[in-house]
Formats: sequence, structure tokens, C-alpha cells
Amino acid sequence: MRKHFLTAALVIVALFVFAQGGDRFFPASQLTTVGAYYYPEHWDSSQWERDIKKMADMGFEFTHFAEFAWAQLEPEEGRYDFAWLDKAVALAAKYNLGVVMCTSTATPPVWLTRKHPEILMKNEDGTLYDHGARQHASFSSNYYRSYSLKMVEELARRYGQDDRIIGWQLDNEPRTFHDYGDDAHQRFRVWLEEKYKTVDALNKAWGTSFWSSVYSSFDQINIPRPSQWGTNYHQRLDHNRFADEETSSFLDEQARVIRKYASPAQWITSNYIPMYDVGYIGQSLELDFVSYTRYMVYGGDRGIGRKGYRVGEYTRIGMANDFFRPLKGYYGVMELQPGQVNWGSVNSQPLPGAVRLWLWHVFAGGSKFTCTYRFRAPIYGYEQYHYGIVGPDGVTPTPGGLEFSMFIREIGQLRNNYDPEARNPVAYEKRKTALLFDAGNVMAINMNPQTREWNTEGHFLKYYRALKSFGAPVDFVRDTVRFEQYPVLIVPALQQISLPMVDKLMAYVNGGGNLVMTVRSGHQDPRGHFWEAPFAAPIRELTGSDIEFYDLLPSHSPDSVVYNKRKYGWTSWGEILKPHSGTETWATFSGDFYAGKAAVTYHRLGKGTVTYVGVDSRSGDLEREILLKLFSKVGIPVENYPHGVIVEYRDGFGIALNYADKSFTMELPASARILSGTKEINPGGVLVWKE
Ligand code: GAL
Repeated sequence: MRKHFLTAALVIVALFVFAQGGDRFFPASQLTTVGAYYYPEHWDSSQWERDIKKMADMGFEFTHFAEFAWAQLEPEEGRYDFAWLDKAVALAAKYNLGVVMCTSTATPPVWLTRKHPEILMKNEDGTLYDHGARQHASFSSNYYRSYSLKMVEELARRYGQDDRIIGWQLDNEPRTFHDYGDDAHQRFRVWLEEKYKTVDALNKAWGTSFWSSVYSSFDQINIPRPSQWGTNYHQRLDHNRFADEETSSFLDEQARVIRKYASPAQWITSNYIPMYDVGYIGQSLELDFVSYTRYMVYGGDRGIGRKGYRVGEYTRIGMANDFFRPLKGYYGVMELQPGQVNWGSVNSQPLPGAVRLWLWHVFAGGSKFTCTYRFRAPIYGYEQYHYGIVGPDGVTPTPGGLEFSMFIREIGQLRNNYDPEARNPVAYEKRKTALLFDAGNVMAINMNPQTREWNTEGHFLKYYRALKSFGAPVDFVRDTVRFEQYPVLIVPALQQISLPMVDKLMAYVNGGGNLVMTVRSGHQDPRGHFWEAPFAAPIRELTGSDIEFYDLLPSHSPDSVVYNKRKYGWTSWGEILKPHSGTETWATFSGDFYAGKAAVTYHRLGKGTVTYVGVDSRSGDLEREILLKLFSKVGIPVENYPHGVIVEYRDGFGIALNYADKSFTMELPASARILSGTKEINPGGVLVWKE
């Protein structure tokens, strides 16, 4: 009897722990859920109930507390005050709102800063940050870490078993800090010693014979100064890796403390800014999943057409979805812009409808939730003029607030149409493509770009945009995944490559995979050294061609590459290729002393194919044409959506989004049932249907 009971209990636990794709925390039939940040400490407590009720009335299903409230949680060292937070949690529960609890570590209280000024970040010139803002303490400060963990432990002890708390957000928008304080130096030296064991090994890896920079002990090594010209590239790379790990290990430490108290139903995440040249996103292995924050209208992007800045760049949400989802199999969005912001270079109004468009885009990528910063517009402090779901009077919904409510109602309708057996169209799934991403590699290229014409993220985007115009689902993948699950794998600019990675790519192709590799790939080993061999020697058998030399052009004098009798301009990076016998030449250089030589090659290898794109075109049109030819050769049918139109499927629902400045008419199968919108989708519009 007892044995049966134990077995049943184990099965239940296993089901719970291994539930796929986030179902453990987010029931599949719920599809997604929407929340809003609330800062009780910013408002008179007599207003809390009115505000929280309003949030619930507007359809929100969860709220988010205690993000920047360390001073209120621990007003004096060791004296904790949870009474105010208890009251806010009780009100949320009264109106059926779940609560995301934050760890407040981004805002250390003044008593801590004054007692231990060493926690403050030190700039290269020795100046210290000061109290009065946020994120002014260093993740490398030992005191800051220990005080943070004490406070987090008390918070977790209080709310870990509280079923009104659905999950935890650690810190706020964690990022890499470059601190020049004593603890940071000490921790960097320990990190180096753990990595290299002997200073001789470090000297070799850093190539310190160059310019006489040899070290004889670890304690002679400093954090590289950014203003100093010509500092060792390998040292700077290691310092960046160290700084990334400081960020991720701090989050892991917080997560471990919370787990000591938290019930298994509470999830743990953090809210990252999507950035593609940092290593810490996805590096904190203690988190259940990663979530991101997104702002679209802030003066940074032109979008499409004269008024495109009001909806923003159409790949910003898509790429974040496709980058965050594969890290843990699912993701959430912790902050989505509710309207005008205050911190951009030009804080324009979003296009009416844009907030809803973004919400649907987040949903289309598979997100389990979207939360917004913030419910009430602030009336004082650094973020005056920032919109909320309600305006500065605390009660009137903003246009973005109404769009949130509309989206929530529409999701309600989708929930009624949810069918657990529904599948996405086969043709869509067949196009699924992987883009290999390696943060260390991006960091290394950006540190040593060789030409100001080069843009690593821009290079990735050329392939990403092409795939989106095909209507292909995309996963940004790490080198740890099984490549075989993808018919096409794109490896853009993988400058640093290990020999096991070359073998892994070879096995993928031999087994039938279609590999696309692009410029700059394979030039260096993982330390950042060139091979003592011809350029990119380890991947030449794979790509089926040698590199004779590479060239870089100034912006005022572009040349072109000819593909199918059409010319495509380029400046940033060209590799003049020498195909091996049996390798086809798909495009050639024109306009200079190497005119007629190969720029793009293709060959069959084992059961698969390798396309090598040895040029980075200006517009990305060449990359699109090359992928089009490859997809057609290997029999993968594609769509032809215009620039700015995105079509995705999830849970059997089709979602078409229009970021362009012209209407787009979507062709739907006769069986399709429209759930929202019309086939003609206006700029900023959305169409949702069930096939
Ligand atoms: C985010 C940040 C929030 C808030 C918001 C304002 O980057 O995480 O705390 O400051 O910007 O738009």
C-alpha cells in the first residue's frame, strides 16, 4: 500500500517537474495572461483598493509588486516591514489578481550605501556612483551581494509558501556592469585563476608576448581601462565574460535563496533587455525561464514609411520572441510599452492601435504572459511624462490602457476557441529554421570589427528578415541544441569556432542538414587566436571552398556582387572564394581587381548541403535571394510576405501583423474562421484566425 502511494507520489512529482513548455506554471488552455506593475509605495494607501479594483475591472489577471522598494522593505538594517506589502497582496487577492513578487535589489537603501560606500559602482576614473537613482550598486561588491541575499531571504521566507504569489522577478533589467572597485578587481583575478590555473597559461591565451605585456602573477592583473588605446583584445574579452558571469551568478544566488522557501508552483525569472552582444541572457541556469522587456517608440527606429516610427521596427519584438523562447522552451514579456515614454531621444505618441499590435506580436511568438510597466502614470520622480494604463489622475484609462483591455477581451475569445488537438499548418512547421547564436562571438567581433561598415546585429537581421518574409518560424539556438531538428541551420559570422563544433556541423550536414555559413566564420579558435594555417582552415572542407583573401570597402565606394545577372551592392565584408572541384559558384564579385571570383558557393556534402555566403550585402536582398534558391532546391515551400508583414501560428491560431505603411491583404484557406480583424489589414492592424 505504502509502496503504491510512494510510486503515485513520485509520478505526480515527476509530471509536475517535467511538464513541458511551461504548462507547469501556465496552463495551456489559458494561452496567455496579462498583468500590470503597481507600486503601492508610490501612492496613498487609501487609493490602493480603488486602483487594484480598476486593474481587475480592466481585465488584468495579475500584478507586480516590490520592484524598487528595498527602503520600504528594510527601513533599517535588519528591521523588516512587510505590513504594507501584506496589505497590497491581500487586496490583489481580493480582486483575483495573482502577484509577481520582485526582489528590489536594484535600489539599495541609503543606510546601506552610507555604511558601506564600497557597494557603489566605481568608474574608470575613480568616481563613485551615489544614492538617489537605481542600479548604482555593483554586482561585484561582496557587501552588496550579502546584504541583498539577506533581504531576499526574508522576502522569500515571508511569501515563498503564499499561493497568492505566482512567481518571482529577480532584480530589474539585469545588465553587465563594468565596475573598477577593489572587490571587482579581486573577483576578476580569482575568476582568471580559476579559468587558467597558471599565469603561464593566461600569458599564452592572451598572447602577452605581444607588446611586452607578460604577467608573472595573477595579482598584477587589472581590469582593462576602456579609454586606453590598444589594450589586449583577449584580456578585454575575458573581462567581458567575467562581467557577464557576475550578473548571472548574482541572479543564480538570489534564485537559490528563494528556492529554499518557495513552493514549486512559484516560478523564478528576471526581466532582461533583449541584447545580442551579451552573454548573461540564458546564463543563469537557476531561473525557470527568461522574460524580456520591450519599448518600441522611443526615437530609436524609423520603422517603415514616413510615420513608421509610431509603430517601431518590426523585427524588434519578433527577434526577441525567437531569441528568448528557445532558451527554456517558453518565455514571458515582463514589460511592454503602454504608451508614450519619457526616456527616449524623441518620445512620440505610438500610432493608435500600435500597443495592441505589439501585444499580438508578443502572443504570436508563444509568450505565456505579457505584463506592462506600469498601471498608474507617475506624477513625480525621474519618469514623469511616462504613460501608464491609467493617466496621472489615477483613474482615466489611457489609449494604450484601452488597447490592453481590448487585447485581454480578445484573448478571452481565443480561450473559448482553444483546441488542445489543434496543430499549426504543416507547411509553416516545415520552414522552421535555426539561426546559431553565440554571445561571446558577437562580443568578440564587436570588439574588433575591422571596419566601421560592419554591424553584427545588422548582419543577423538580414537573414532574419528574409526568413520572416518567407513566413518561416525561427529559433535562435545555442551550440548545445540538436541541430538535426531543423532542416536549415544558418550560422552567421561565427568568427570563433572550436574543432568539436566543426565536427558537430559536419555531422549535421552529413546526416542531411542544410547549412548556411556566412562571412567571418571560423577565422579564430575559441581564445580568439587565428589558426596557424590559411584563413578559416578548419571549415574549408565543410564549405567546399578556400578564402583567397578578404576585402573591406569604404562607404563612399561600394562594389557589387552579381547573382542571377542582378547586382547587389556591398561594402562591409567580402571574402574572395576559391571553390573546390564540385562546388558550385552562385554569385561572383564585380567592379574591382577580383571581378569574376566567387562570392557565394554551394555544395553537397554527405546527405546535406552547405551554402557559403562570402559577402555581406548592403540591403540584405542578396541574402534573401540566396536563401530563396536554397529553400526551393531542398523542397521547402515559402511565402512571399512584404517587408513589415509578419505571419505566425501558435496553438492552431494564425496571427498576421502589419508594421508596414500600406494595407496588406491576407489570403486565407476557405476553412479559416476569422476571430479578429479583416483580411485586409491596415497599417498597425492585426488579423487573427483559426484554420
Ligand atoms: C524599463 C525599466 C522600468 C522602467 C521603464 C520605463 O527599462 O525596466 O523599470 O524604468 O524602463 O520605460
